[in-house]
Amino acid sequence: MNWSQIFTSSIGKKLVMAMTGFFLVVFLLVHCYINANVLFSNPEENFNRAAHFMGSNILIRIMEIGLFLGFILHIVQGYKLELQNRSSRKSRYAVTAGNKTSKWYSRSMALLGTLILLFLVLHLVHFWVPSRFGGLTDVQYDGKTYHNLYAQMQDIFAVPWVVVVYLLGCFSLSWHLLHGVQSAAQTLGISSKNYFGTIKTIGIVFSIVVPLLFALMPLFVHFGWQINTGGVSLLF
Ligand code: HEM
Repeated sequence: MNWSQIFTSSIGKKLVMAMTGFFLVVFLLVHCYINANVLFSNPEENFNRAAHFMGSNILIRIMEIGLFLGFILHIVQGYKLELQNRSSRKSRYAVTAGNKTSKWYSRSMALLGTLILLFLVLHLVHFWVPSRFGGLTDVQYDGKTYHNLYAQMQDIFAVPWVVVVYLLGCFSLSWHLLHGVQSAAQTLGISSKNYFGTIKTIGIVFSIVVPLLFALMPLFVHFGWQINTGGVSLLF
């Protein structure tokens, strides 16, 4: 397979989806770990310090470019695959009622992906734009200045409909991942191996636990809930 076939052939597109999807899964894990600081005691200082560590690390900033490219590639190839699947379904069936044996979330990857995309645009406007282009307040810990991203979260999640939109975004993410992880394992040829059962279990646990933790964040910030850990941070 040459480079152009990676972007034009059916298997090439699926390969791009699997590889960019896997990269995004790693990002979600790190993002969730850093943000989980808001669930525990002393959330403002612990989260702001952790977010600063990520934001000022040169390796992470380089990865950020890869992350956005990964998102764009995953979205563009995803829509291309959906169009291709639709036209092949149309030519096979007179009525496009869908294949009854394929699960609902498998047939709705594009719909769920689109909901996640809408959530993502709103989410970047809420946090990434003010963080990179100005608009956040500052706070000092031990004489050092940090962006107060936690105060931004408190402002954003004070609005009930925003909390509801974030919960829907996390729910869509969970369904999208449930199918995506298995689909990627199949594309990468792991599904025939005897450790497929383990990968499938890890995929299911990840697809439920990570979006669930994300969903708890707007709820905890909105209601001012905290799990008491005596102020200990997850990172430092
Ligand atoms: C629901 C709970 C979530 C909260 C409270 C949250 C919070 C944040 C915050 C505070 C930032 C800014 C970080 C910074 O600029 O240093 C950020 C960035 C970002 N978030 Fe989230 N996030 C959540 C869920 C998600 C989900 C589910 C996704 C993906 C589907 C996502 C994707 C991103 C991306 C792509 C960025 C920009 C990455 C970067 O700064 O390099 N977030 N998020």
